[in-house]
Amino acid sequence: MCGIVAYIGKKDAYEIVVKGLKRLEYRGYDSAGVALLTDGNLNLYKKQGKVANLEEFTKDKDKSGRVGIGHTRWATHGEPNDVNAHPHMSNNGEIALIHNGIIENYDSIKRELLTKGYTFQSETDTEVLTILVEDIKKNTNGTYAESLRLALQQVVGAYAIVMISKENPRQLIAARKSSPLVVGIGKDGDFFCASDATPIVEYTKKVVYLDDEEIAVLDLDDGLKLYSIDDVQKTPYIQELEIKLESLEKGGYDHFMLKEIHEQPRSITDCFRGRLNAEEAWVSLGGIKEYEQKMIDAKRIIMIACGTSWHAALVGEYLFEDLARINVEVEYASEFRYRNPIINEDDIVIAISQSGETADTLAALELAKSKGATILGICNVVGSSISRITDAGSYTHAGPEIGVASTKAFTAQVTVLTLMALSLAKKKGSISDTKFRTMLSELEIIPQKVQEILDINDKIKTISAEYKDATNALYLGRGSSFPVALEGALKLKEISYIHAEGYPAAEMKHGPIALIDEEMPVFVIATQGPSYEKVVSNIQEVKARKGKLIAIVTEGDEQVKEIADHVIEIPEADEHLIPLLATIPFQLLSYHIAVMRNCNVDQPRNLAKSVTVE
Ligand code: M6R
Repeated sequence: MCGIVAYIGKKDAYEIVVKGLKRLEYRGYDSAGVALLTDGNLNLYKKQGKVANLEEFTKDKDKSGRVGIGHTRWATHGEPNDVNAHPHMSNNGEIALIHNGIIENYDSIKRELLTKGYTFQSETDTEVLTILVEDIKKNTNGTYAESLRLALQQVVGAYAIVMISKENPRQLIAARKSSPLVVGIGKDGDFFCASDATPIVEYTKKVVYLDDEEIAVLDLDDGLKLYSIDDVQKTPYIQELEIKLESLEKGGYDHFMLKEIHEQPRSITDCFRGRLNAEEAWVSLGGIKEYEQKMIDAKRIIMIACGTSWHAALVGEYLFEDLARINVEVEYASEFRYRNPIINEDDIVIAISQSGETADTLAALELAKSKGATILGICNVVGSSISRITDAGSYTHAGPEIGVASTKAFTAQVTVLTLMALSLAKKKGSISDTKFRTMLSELEIIPQKVQEILDINDKIKTISAEYKDATNALYLGRGSSFPVALEGALKLKEISYIHAEGYPAAEMKHGPIALIDEEMPVFVIATQGPSYEKVVSNIQEVKARKGKLIAIVTEGDEQVKEIADHVIEIPEADEHLIPLLATIPFQLLSYHIAVMRNCNVDQPRNLAKSVTVE
């Protein structure tokens, strides 16, 4: 939540910062702002709404300067308006600061600063931090970099910060704790900072991911210097970025979400590339290899995640238990971390996260680590916080996911979980050779099957038109299709604002069935498999109450066709792989319905892609 960008060097800072903010807009779009240092002046421009509003507002303003910071906000403290937008300035007008995170003890600090006569324009915790830095500087007479370091020793909470000062216009000062921050080292001695690497990759591939409680001083004369919050100098670890610029563009699609849905044949292939060979009958996840025996021996594996990633974990539970016969518990990270959970040293905790930055998931993982559990990660964003604190893990390799609604990240997570389950099952001997080979061959051709579903997009769009005005919807599934139903409901509600709920199909009669009438669309996964007949019975129950039935069925199905209002056929596949296919029509349905309702598909209201606050 919140995106921050900064630049210092020989280029025009405004252009770089604003372009970067557009790339980070998925992290929050309540307001945007920039601060530019030019000829001893600090120019500050802030506007409620999207970066486009800021651009409009700055049209006739002085945008010169080679030093700039910018922010796109997802509001936490204070409503989204111009005043609460970042950057924030000190009372003396000397410094400007951008912040992603929450300063939890801002209220007590503010009260003390008020007694000293400082004034506040906004309701934000960030302005409090900015003025605290000013106050420390006044009392210690040190540099602003030093004052920020001392201020950070006083604050409780999470932050990724960049600060500029009139005193030293050749310096950016950056710091992080629990919110992500990447420093880019430019080719011309210039520097970049951003919440993730997407605003940087166009200019340089050399980056340093800051660790918690690290402060980076980026000086045009002195280069990059890294310190701990306790003032111990550290050696920066410079990494090479692998992101391709094209992956950050819409590539001809109307929305990132649509592009990402259509990328899935490729992203799933990228996910298993080099990890699976059906002909030679092997599967191997290098990242977790040395932990596999521990996973097999573990009394239980706990999977923790939020949102869509939690749905992927539920699919993982089915896969691990059924194929590898390993006991799995799936937990919401936000509940797990505050529940005083019983965690043993022989527990394995796997965090699943697209961004690798979700605050609750990160905190839950830290808790598990502190209790001695082995912690593993399944992340998409390379170099993210979760991928760095875990003992080991596997990347999903889905490529950057920009649309707030997760699509290709989900299928990639499920693919990694399938590979893990198969690898563990093989090592443990809980799967027959024949079944193992069949599943590998089937998994290898899943991308083609996903493509076949994408090819019936027009049909799915036509069906979507019939339900675009619905106010409620139910999603039903059994077995590993139950998490797919949950995911289908989440996709619909988050981008089209239609209230939707996912249920295990058999649970319907314990309550939700009361909601069914002729207005209620019910989306059901009724593919061939062990629970097919049971689902057909549930479908009959819906029809008996005149619900509108949209069923996802296996190609050639005749029985459900007779009963349902619409069927969407998907290719036949092993039941364990159905989640990878059945989720695609739900993604497309949600997408089309949202577009038809004129919703902002890529940036739904109140949401942000990366939830770095709890
Ligand atoms: O980055 P993460 O996977 O940890 O994010 C968790 C959720 O915030 C996320 O999956 C969210 O539910 C999706 N964007 C919904 O589509």
